[in-house]
Amino acid sequence: AKSPFTYRFEAGAQAEAPPLLLLHGTGGDENDLLQLGQMMSSGSALLSPRGRVLENGMPRFFRRFSEGRFDEEDVRYRAVELGDFVSYARDRYGIGAPIAVGFSNGANIAAALLLTRPETLAGAVLLRAMVPLSDPPAVDLDGKPVLILSGRQDPIVPADNARRLSTILSKAGAKVDHQILPTGHQLSQTDIALARTWLADVA
Ligand code: MLT
Repeated sequence: AKSPFTYRFEAGAQAEAPPLLLLHGTGGDENDLLQLGQMMSSGSALLSPRGRVLENGMPRFFRRFSEGRFDEEDVRYRAVELGDFVSYARDRYGIGAPIAVGFSNGANIAAALLLTRPETLAGAVLLRAMVPLSDPPAVDLDGKPVLILSGRQDPIVPADNARRLSTILSKAGAKVDHQILPTGHQLSQTDIALARTWLADVA
């Protein structure tokens, strides 16, 4: 079988380092986060798909009606599609269940994967994530580690929305570490340093 995704795969130098599923933000592509992934976990295999939805030419992982208003039917559909891609890539490259590292729209689809296809991921680093589904199915995250890094001055993600995501994932059984950084929507060196330490800890 083939996969409909355009993607990059880089084999990891260390077999025991967790594979990372890199999920870019709106307007990014499969090349965007490779360096970030490398900085966060240098020995890890990197699997980096390009979002298949286009918004004015900008790749994303699901449709939205406007900023912050998601097409939830598409969120669910795209989560299945992405879950299938991860299965395909695991087979093809012989890797274990990855830890997602998602930024912005990529963090939101990673959260949707956790809530609808939890077996796809071993854990997740969610950078500037929001609640992806207003009425997620009951799911057992069974102690999966999740790091949420939010920005206190993020104009796209209301603080309360990020807290709600953290609560939803905790209630579903994930082991959530939610930190709120003194920054906006953009990533900072602190994000990289915190994710790096966290990944070294959970792996
Ligand atoms: C989304 O659409 O997923 C969020 O608004 C984040 C983004 O701007 O991509």
